[in-house]
Amino acid sequence: MSKHNVSRRQFLNYTLTGVGGFMAAGMLMPMVRFAIDPVLSADKGGDYIATKQKVSELTTEPTRVDFSFKQVDGWYESEETNTAWVYKMEDGNIVALSPICKHLGCTVAWNTDKSNPNQFFCPCHYGRYTKDGVNVKGTPPVSPLDVYDTKEKDGILYLGQLKPHGGA
Ligand code: FES
Repeated sequence: MSKHNVSRRQFLNYTLTGVGGFMAAGMLMPMVRFAIDPVLSADKGGDYIATKQKVSELTTEPTRVDFSFKQVDGWYESEETNTAWVYKMEDGNIVALSPICKHLGCTVAWNTDKSNPNQFFCPCHYGRYTKDGVNVKGTPPVSPLDVYDTKEKDGILYLGQLKPHGGA
């Protein structure tokens, strides 16, 4: 059996190098994670959330669709509920609009202002939008409602990222 003699100086060198490396990794990991997290998040943003809405039941009349998803904020995980106004266009394409008014963030609803039928109406300051989500000139909102990406899987409506109206 061979006998390796490790001097006191070598032992200290090995120990300090090991401990130093461990501490450096501990400090660098959060920095690396901070730097690449937006890339990872962007990946997550592409996810679609299943709703309970059957695509075959959608009509040309906007329908309120509520959907829930898990939101992870650090160590805290919660169940969030969102809403979209969804309808089919004449060509069968699906439109899913955010209900959040672009003026000051109240919730818009379909066809609730009897003097302006077939429009989205925001009761807070009488904001109005046409069926395709475009803000009616002369009312407080200055931009159209945001739009969800949509897809159909097994006959069910899935909603994706929320994008500005007309955005890619
Ligand atoms: S918040 Fe909708 S019109 Fe003001």
